[in-house]
Amino acid sequence: MQVIHDPDSLRPFRGCALVPTMGALHEGHGSLIRRARAHGRPVVATVFVNPTQFGPREDFAKYPRTLDADVALAERCGADAVFAPSPDVMYPDGAEAARAQAEAFPLPPAAREPGLEDACRPGHFGGVCQVVARLFDLTMPGISIFGEKDYQQLRVLTQMVALSGGRWGAMRVEPGPTVRESDGLAMSSRNRYLRPEQRDQALGLVRALQMAASAQHPATAESLMSATLAEHGLATDYAVVRDADTLLPVSGFERPTRALIAARLDTVRLIDNLAMPVWR
Ligand code: PAF
Repeated sequence: MQVIHDPDSLRPFRGCALVPTMGALHEGHGSLIRRARAHGRPVVATVFVNPTQFGPREDFAKYPRTLDADVALAERCGADAVFAPSPDVMYPDGAEAARAQAEAFPLPPAAREPGLEDACRPGHFGGVCQVVARLFDLTMPGISIFGEKDYQQLRVLTQMVALSGGRWGAMRVEPGPTVRESDGLAMSSRNRYLRPEQRDQALGLVRALQMAASAQHPATAESLMSATLAEHGLATDYAVVRDADTLLPVSGFERPTRALIAARLDTVRLIDNLAMPVWR
């Protein structure tokens, strides 16, 4: 397996199955790499902690950087290359220009209308779309795989590609299901910030989603989620049921919907989501 820093060395991997990441890889990323492998294309995982998607008070400086371990995990899961570019490769015009370009990025509807991560983390999706578009430009993948754990991000990037007018040819975005720890907590690079005694509280997210799945109406599901999060001492950013495609509010369970939660435990912000049953 190759570790690539120079984009010229990516040329043999055009048409690859791409797994973009910010590193600190865990089994959730591993499952995306294995899924990529199943497409019979060369598999490239990218590792870049993207400054433009972090807000000024977020954890960019302390975000874990574990390239050697990431390379080992990517290789074990079947990647052919890890692309780990420097900030200069990603943003040749410098950090300030990169921020300005992220702010000006034309955002698809799922990044501006739902009032979810877009409301809680202003500027976040400008940075995500900017960095992913740049990674696509450099790698020109045939398929790109993103985890359902970041469900709004998955919808945003799917729309970005659909609205791009074929900028990346016939490239498709494929979702990878969320991988959970044995206790149900969704795997996340940020779980390592949790103290052992916070674990049961963090499980409030998955318990809230399970409660939502038992409800007959979205409004009931939302009340049950809010109550469960409060019982676990979690501060709720949102706990809502939305249309699974548009992420806009819904009034029933006749179409595919998704329950989505973001909640805070001291300084750790956790997100999770679950497909709701369809009742016709
Ligand atoms: O999901 C992530 O790890 C990041 O947001 C992504 C898609 C790699 C862009 O930096």
